[in-house]
Amino acid sequence: MTILVTGGAGFIGSNFINEWIEQVDEPVINLDLLTYAGNPDNLREIAGSPQYLFVHANICDGERVGELLDRYEVRALIHFAAESHVDRSISGPQSFVQTNIVGTSRLLDAALPHWRKVSDFRFLHVSTDEVFGSLEPDEAPFVEACTYKPNSPYAASKAASDHLVRAYGQTYGLPVLITHCSNNYGPYHFPEKLIPLLINNAISGKDLPLYGDGRQVRDWLYVADHCRALRMVLAEGKPGQTYNIGGSAERQNIEVARTVCAVLDDVRPRQDGRSYGDQIVLVRDRPGHDRRYAVDTTKLRTELGWEPLQNFDAGIEKTVRWYLEHPDWVASVTGGTYREWVARQYA
Ligand code: NAD
Ligand code: TYD
Repeated sequence: MTILVTGGAGFIGSNFINEWIEQVDEPVINLDLLTYAGNPDNLREIAGSPQYLFVHANICDGERVGELLDRYEVRALIHFAAESHVDRSISGPQSFVQTNIVGTSRLLDAALPHWRKVSDFRFLHVSTDEVFGSLEPDEAPFVEACTYKPNSPYAASKAASDHLVRAYGQTYGLPVLITHCSNNYGPYHFPEKLIPLLINNAISGKDLPLYGDGRQVRDWLYVADHCRALRMVLAEGKPGQTYNIGGSAERQNIEVARTVCAVLDDVRPRQDGRSYGDQIVLVRDRPGHDRRYAVDTTKLRTELGWEPLQNFDAGIEKTVRWYLEHPDWVASVTGGTYREWVARQYA
């Protein structure tokens, strides 16, 4: 049997595939369009494996997806492919509608006839806690049953795709699973997102921009803990169910920035002897910026026995060291299309 991963050249998808090849004796097909966020370099260590096949395609091409599902007798589709950056969804929502909503619906349409031939097929949709909206400081973390209240175009597009996935489960009986994960960090994270942006700006002598008052809270999870949770949900999750995944590591953005700076002060001190913390600046806030996300993972812990293994401070240190050791990777992903977008955005 074989699994099909969409978006496997991106941040979480590539971590998932790298681990899968290392730990599981089953072939994996990676279907990815290689947008600015997808980088085949993320998979260079496993690219020659007989267990791995890369297919350059768009998830909106349902016919192509259907062919792959049938030809390789795919027993599970793990759907990561998405436009994933909130700031980009604010400046240009249409690609989020196209990829996240239309793309997911095309995958579902391709999966239906295939599932009718491969009865123990699973469709695992990788979603986000952002579909639940924003929490007040004293509110309990999101549980699976929370009402959807997406605030950004990105969150709304993920919410719409969740609803489609759920509807195909309810209406047609397609065995679907949905996960809602909190903010990830770790290797191969595209440096437009907060943590890699802080690391790369710091060592390049640039400002470390924090939106608004820098007191927004995110619940951080090391990417390998997310990937392990996904393997468990795929293996043991109940079709039709949704599962929260989170690190129980709530931090204000300013605390995250200070942690990154403290690690850098230690492992690569500034030449002038000052702290990287001096580079932190507060900048104009993101429109509609969600104040706080936090995730209750009781269901995943009690039903599937998962728990996060990576502690936040050690995970940040590991991540900072990874970026310091991979300047070529950073240079490759920040070139080309991304650079043009940044130039337009910040002209
Ligand atoms: P990413 O932006 O790093 O990668 C997205 C990947 O999808 C890229 O390889 C890109 O080339 C590919 N892709 C985009 N459009 C495509 C299309 N039309 N057809 C085929 N491939 C396409 O994203 P990520 O951070 O790895 O997130 C992966 C998934 O996990 C997303 O669905 C996201 O919503 C979800 N998620 C992310 C986080 C997080 O913290 N990053 C947290 C929770 C959930
Ligand atoms: P981000 O990594 O974009 O993830 P998300 O918006 O999906 O949570 O941002 C994480 C937090 O960091 C969020 O509160 C926005 C904030 N942020 C900044 O303060 N400065 C930045 O330059 C970026 C990219 C994000």
